[in-house]
Amino acid sequence: VRILENRCAHRGPHLCGQARGNAGRLTCPYHAWTYQLDGTLIGIPEIDEYPADFDKAAHSLWQVPSVERYRGFIFARLVGEGPDLMTFLGSARGVYDDFVDRAPQDAIEVMPGMVKHRFRANWKMMLENLNDLYHAIFAHASATTAIGAVSDPDKLHPVIRSLVASPRVVPMFKQLRSAIDRFGHSHVTGSVDFSGRPIPRDAYFEALAAARGEERAREILSINHGMQLLYPSGVVNPGQQVVRTIHPISPEETEVRGYVFRLKGAPEEITRLAMFYFNLSTSAFSPIIADDLEIYERTQRNHRHSRSDWIELTRGIGADRSQPAATSEEYIRSQFRVWQTYMRGTMP
Ligand code: FES
Ligand SMILES: [Fe+2]
Repeated sequence: VRILENRCAHRGPHLCGQARGNAGRLTCPYHAWTYQLDGTLIGIPEIDEYPADFDKAAHSLWQVPSVERYRGFIFARLVGEGPDLMTFLGSARGVYDDFVDRAPQDAIEVMPGMVKHRFRANWKMMLENLNDLYHAIFAHASATTAIGAVSDPDKLHPVIRSLVASPRVVPMFKQLRSAIDRFGHSHVTGSVDFSGRPIPRDAYFEALAAARGEERAREILSINHGMQLLYPSGVVNPGQQVVRTIHPISPEETEVRGYVFRLKGAPEEITRLAMFYFNLSTSAFSPIIADDLEIYERTQRNHRHSRSDWIELTRGIGADRSQPAATSEEYIRSQFRVWQTYMRGTMP
């Protein structure tokens, strides 16, 4: 696998406008410079108009200097120097095991399409929010109470009903811990399935047990990384079969891309439910994510205009940093510690 910058070496536009597909070569839409898939420039129309010493070889597409893989995922590092993938991921690598081990055929597959949304706030807000168990019961009350208020909740789809059930896990939140990694990655430990997603365990368990043995199948399903934040680029959620990547557009605008995965060898019902839950909880029309987006944008507006320079991030400070409570803001402080080192050009 090669990862090339999508930038023509002539005058710089995007070469390829397709999100996915196959091609034998890449031709720029502007003046038809043509590149091989390894990035080598092979064709320039009217090349005789260029200087005699024009060096085609010096006009390859820029190639990402470091590409590594783990469990089928491909990772790119844009700079030549830096930690290798395993060092960078640290304990967060476990999220990929958690994800792929759940597939009876030991492989997962990204479903066609993605969900994109943009919000008018800094990218950090999302990473500060996703492991914030403290906010869930308050910020999402409007959605969950509305669902809870329907006259005949039994008629609701079980996935929708599960959203109402989620506040019930709040008293458990304080018992949970955050696992925070050196590079700012974090997840909530413990095996609470926050989605409450009613999955047809039986058929799925049978498929997994047939492939890996009952004991191992049970062990795999008992692991739950919840939402693993990969600071600063995204979030992986094996239980919901979702990966989201975070793309800063400007200091005040962010795009999020979400992908649902199929666990190979699992019943199709599992995939269908994952899609349904994804749409409901994280797509642009989700009543849940609308609450979070509203908060990010309200916060960003105030950061721009307020006379107060500071926000408050001390919840849980002074407690054991290696085992902070899941309701502590320690994981956000760790993100800022890491960000500070990056801004200074040093290593966490
Ligand atoms: S800009 Fe790509 S060929 Fe001219
Ligand atoms: Fe939220």
